[in-house]
Amino acid sequence: MLEISDLTVRYGKLTALDQVGIRVGQGEAVFVVGPNGAGKSTLLKTVAGLLRPARGRIDFDGQPVGGGAPERLCRQGLALVPEGRHIFRTLSVEENLLVGMMIRRDRAAVKDDLERILGLFPILRDRFRGVAGNLSGGEQQQLAIARALLQRPRLLMIDEPSLGLAPLVIDQVYASLRALNADGLTLLVVEQSTARVLDLATRVYVLRSGKVVLADTAEALATGVAMEEAYFGYAGQANG
Ligand SMILES: Nc1ncnc2c1ncn2[C@@H]1O[C@H](COP(=O)(O)OP(=O)(O)OP(=O)(O)O)[C@@H](O)[C@H]1O
Ligand SMILES: [Mg+2]
Repeated sequence: MLEISDLTVRYGKLTALDQVGIRVGQGEAVFVVGPNGAGKSTLLKTVAGLLRPARGRIDFDGQPVGGGAPERLCRQGLALVPEGRHIFRTLSVEENLLVGMMIRRDRAAVKDDLERILGLFPILRDRFRGVAGNLSGGEQQQLAIARALLQRPRLLMIDEPSLGLAPLVIDQVYASLRALNADGLTLLVVEQSTARVLDLATRVYVLRSGKVVLADTAEALATGVAMEEAYFGYAGQANG
């Protein structure tokens, strides 16, 4: 479905991504984990067309993505929930969701989708007319995901869904993601924390300093040890 190959992205002299290859198959939940500055946000921004790669290819269903207007990305079936959520704090929950629907022409289907999504995130229904800035961090994350879902993506990309959330709230957000994935939505999620990744992932990539240092199925990584070692860079060192 999504095929990223040989992707190199630079900010001036700094190489943020170095010949990265990542594949996301239909129906998968692929996670890219890595420490601060690994290049995770750069990866998603590049797929979303917000950054231009120095080299490499990004194909979605065999068509090149990136570099176009945001509407084009949306029309291709990709949506991004950016780092920090980017909700409009002074607008209501409803108005924030309207932003997600603006791009669509199929008004009747939009209403159905909104109902379905409010069913998945009941708190947003309760707070529908309230100001988004008054939502808790976890509620804001749900709003950002809900808004992206209203674009009807086939692939949803999320930048650090668990960032800044309490463990119980992370559980809720992950439960929603699991339900969406079970319902057929393909996910590409980047996380700094490895804590919940194996609960949901089909496959995991570990990114360090712009390079993929480990790629494997969640099954193969079940104990989490290999993932932790790759994450912290212990592999190959004598005494860890
Ligand atoms: N606009 C920018 N200009 C210059 N350097 C940047 C810019 N954005 C990111 N970088 C650098 O690129 C590298 C990768 O950054 P990126 O934001 O992709 O990391 P990340 O994995 O998302 O980190 P975090 O977990 O902290 O969000 C870092 O060294 C960062 O300092
Ligand atoms: Mg980031």
